[in-house]
Amino acid sequence: MNRKNMKNRSSYTIKEASGRVCWSSPANIALIKYWGKRGVQLPMNPSISFVLSESKVTTSIEYSISKDILPGIDSFTLNGEEKKDFLPRIENYLLGLRQLFPFLEHARMRINSNSSFPHSAGIASSAAAFSALALCICDIWQELKEQKASESEFLRQASLVARLGSGSACRSVYGGLAVWGKTSLVTGSSDDFAVRLKEDLISPGMLELNDSILIVDSSVKKVSSSGGHTLMNDHPYRESRLLQAESNLDTLLRALSDGDMEKFGQVIENEALSLHALMMSSHPGYLLLRPGTLQIIDKVQEFRKESGIQVYFTLDAGPNIHLIYRKSDKQRVKTFIESELLDHCEDRGWSDDGIGRGPEKHNDNKQAGRG
Ligand code: DP6
Repeated sequence: MNRKNMKNRSSYTIKEASGRVCWSSPANIALIKYWGKRGVQLPMNPSISFVLSESKVTTSIEYSISKDILPGIDSFTLNGEEKKDFLPRIENYLLGLRQLFPFLEHARMRINSNSSFPHSAGIASSAAAFSALALCICDIWQELKEQKASESEFLRQASLVARLGSGSACRSVYGGLAVWGKTSLVTGSSDDFAVRLKEDLISPGMLELNDSILIVDSSVKKVSSSGGHTLMNDHPYRESRLLQAESNLDTLLRALSDGDMEKFGQVIENEALSLHALMMSSHPGYLLLRPGTLQIIDKVQEFRKESGIQVYFTLDAGPNIHLIYRKSDKQRVKTFIESELLDHCEDRGWSDDGIGRGPEKHNDNKQAGRG
């Protein structure tokens, strides 16, 4: 724990308080992948992602704080259903945050979450879920403490707190693109929290990219991301991966600034394939790609060559495809998806998304609706 956190602790005296906070926070898709970690959820390499505009989790916390209260969660609901099986992970997360937020030792909470996207949407929900939760916790703290943080300090703390729940969640607290991991390429970057990539470093067209998500297989992965990160510790290609991520980030930042879609696409496809190559070459090796994933990749590359339309793919740690392309190509890509790609998707499932504006605070007293 750093000195700043210690100060939090000593300068806080418990006051009776109760209230409600509510935040929605988006999922994100990495362009340069975070793969491998060290210490307390610190990344082995810098990563960059953008937040989605449609895929988000809205979480509200009703809290009451008193010196005599035994801390805990009274209920947790997801999309209106009580989920007792989620409680241990959330309770453990909040327990780990007590040093940072002493009020958690004296708080009882009711937590409600609503996801705008179903589990079967092929989007990792943990980034949206943990960033929404972190924003709520930081917001309660903001209400309680005497000295209020500036907006940038607040978001930085929310990013750090989200990271402790799930690494990639720290990139979800900002609109647009965010970088996580210390790198000389991005001023102010840190392993502890993500920073927003300033818009004046991005060519305007690159701020309006579309992301069509193709669901090849929505079943639970046989190896979780956490398991995959662990396998990077003794990975034979570990050192070369670190160099590759840094060099890909360098090229990607230039492509974003120049509006060079071709370079951008080459890098994101290289990252996606490298991520899965790292999984295959781990000990033990494993494979998350499905036949449909490979068929779609082939068709996308063929389509690009024939039509000249700059549509590129990326992948999370799973078999589903994100197609990234300029907004102006939306109609032609939609026609291509519907005529050529949906046969390779589970129940012809896909959804349209794009770069979003980031989290939103809800001030009303009602439970914010889905999305
Ligand atoms: C492939 O953030 O889900 O999506 O920190 O263990 O919760 P934990 O892992 P997680 O890993 C995400 C891996 C990735 C790449 C990325 O989002 O950068």
